[in-house]
Amino acid sequence: MIFSNTLIYWYLQNNRELPWRKTKNPYFIWLSEIMLQQTRVAQGLSYYQKFTTDFPTVFNLANADESTVLKMWQGLGYYSRARNLHFSAKQIANELNGEFPSTYKEIIKLKGIGDYTASAIASICFNEPTAVLDGNVYRVLSRYYGIDTPINSSAGIKEFKTLAQSLIDETQPGTYNQAIMDFGALHCKPQNPLCETCPFSDSCVAFEKKLTKELPVKEKKIKVRKRYFNFLVIKTDNDTTILSERKGKGIWQGLYQFPLIESNKVINKDELILSEEFINLFPLETTISLFNPKEIVHKLSHQHLYTQFWIVETANSAETTIKWSEIEKYPVPILIANFLEAFQAEK
Ligand code: ADE
Repeated sequence: MIFSNTLIYWYLQNNRELPWRKTKNPYFIWLSEIMLQQTRVAQGLSYYQKFTTDFPTVFNLANADESTVLKMWQGLGYYSRARNLHFSAKQIANELNGEFPSTYKEIIKLKGIGDYTASAIASICFNEPTAVLDGNVYRVLSRYYGIDTPINSSAGIKEFKTLAQSLIDETQPGTYNQAIMDFGALHCKPQNPLCETCPFSDSCVAFEKKLTKELPVKEKKIKVRKRYFNFLVIKTDNDTTILSERKGKGIWQGLYQFPLIESNKVINKDELILSEEFINLFPLETTISLFNPKEIVHKLSHQHLYTQFWIVETANSAETTIKWSEIEKYPVPILIANFLEAFQAEK
């Protein structure tokens, strides 16, 4: 069985009659594809009719006021799509004489057009065999081939793009692309796929192994917490500083660090000096300078640490017990080790 033949055979019997399928005008296909992102076909239909009636050519869209375009877009959401559409329409009208670019490579250069839209337009309008990847395509391919690589990981995107590209019918890429999207939307549905009447049921891995509910796999994106660290790197006249051991649970447990003031944003010197913690730590006079003008972003799995190292020159005190000459003996987080290396190199 040739995958694309079976798919196109299914499509010829089952495809949806949609207005943008009656044309190969790239301007119309572009409008439809942008509207259908994050929007159901049923909802997108009336917007497509309105836009193509009011703006029958790219020049009409380009010459419209942005507020008119946004007003017409109202209800579709994700307004950056409308703004980018308008921006690119002006570019096509004014810089390309109204001529829509005709290759994937050129199309993807337009603002608001990514891999999916460029592939769709290039294949549907210009017969370029560039495979589309959308939620439908991921679902169909992951189930049919039994692929459990997460579809939202970079490895997954690569793997599925290569596979999709290897399956495309090069003689009718636009039809193939729309067929696989329709097949995903109508037959190989997220819930209750129609496996009993599926033309692929004799060779579908997910069907055979009862994995349709498990596929495709999506990686849970963990929420990253942003934190703002201000390390106080103390220098005294007799070359001592403060390092203290991090207590409590955590990845830095048992490691040493400079006194730390955590803030709720990146702060400047005045904000640092006025913070209660700073005043408590340094009641005496100090000279302060910021070592790294741009904050260092240290990325941990669940946290991004926006870090500033402040050099604080102050008098000797009972607390500055660590000798700079011995600082290398202490185990420190890599973030601090990197700082120390840069700091010592400057001395
Ligand atoms: N979803 C978005 N664009 C589509 C197209 N051209 N065919 C089928 N489904 C789609």
